[in-house]
Amino acid sequence: MAVETDHGIGEAVAARIERRWATLSIVIVGVLVGMATFIGIHQATMPQGRVETADPGTLHLSGEFIESNLGSAVEADGSVTVRAIGQQYSFTPQCVVVPLETPINFRATSADVVHGLLIEGTNINTMLVPGYVSVLPIRFKALGEHVMPCQEFCGIGHQGMWGKVKVVDKTEFLNRTAAKRRLTCVD
Ligand code: CUA
Repeated sequence: MAVETDHGIGEAVAARIERRWATLSIVIVGVLVGMATFIGIHQATMPQGRVETADPGTLHLSGEFIESNLGSAVEADGSVTVRAIGQQYSFTPQCVVVPLETPINFRATSADVVHGLLIEGTNINTMLVPGYVSVLPIRFKALGEHVMPCQEFCGIGHQGMWGKVKVVDKTEFLNRTAAKRRLTCVD
């Protein structure tokens, strides 16, 4: 009898512990699903949950990545969109100019193979995959220059594939956009 009672108590304890761990597992799954939902909605995932495409075969002929549309442009809401492409073995534009303390959206893609886009000193570090548009939001808090190397091995000239980002005063930037709709460092 005593043995049976002990057995019953042991079973109750085991059931309680199992319930506790089962609840914990469900809570962990719930937290992870919540996190995935949050970063998905706020487009903080990399690659983004909402994928935009761009045909590398017609990149230079039509659409947002034609050459005249590359560079930095001011949007109606005051933010700046930077459009760039990577190709063996350079970025276009080679030097990106952006204003200080302004919400900036990088939109970039590749014309040939997989390249990388990294802006030194920032959290921008992504791949440029032919067929897909990489979208990255950023805000620069200091004037100056950042190097922008390709960080994916993309062929024999990979180590020579470097770009630059120049952060300039906002007023200066806006004055320059008055004369030209798409800016690069050399405009
Ligand atoms: Cu382009 Cu490495």
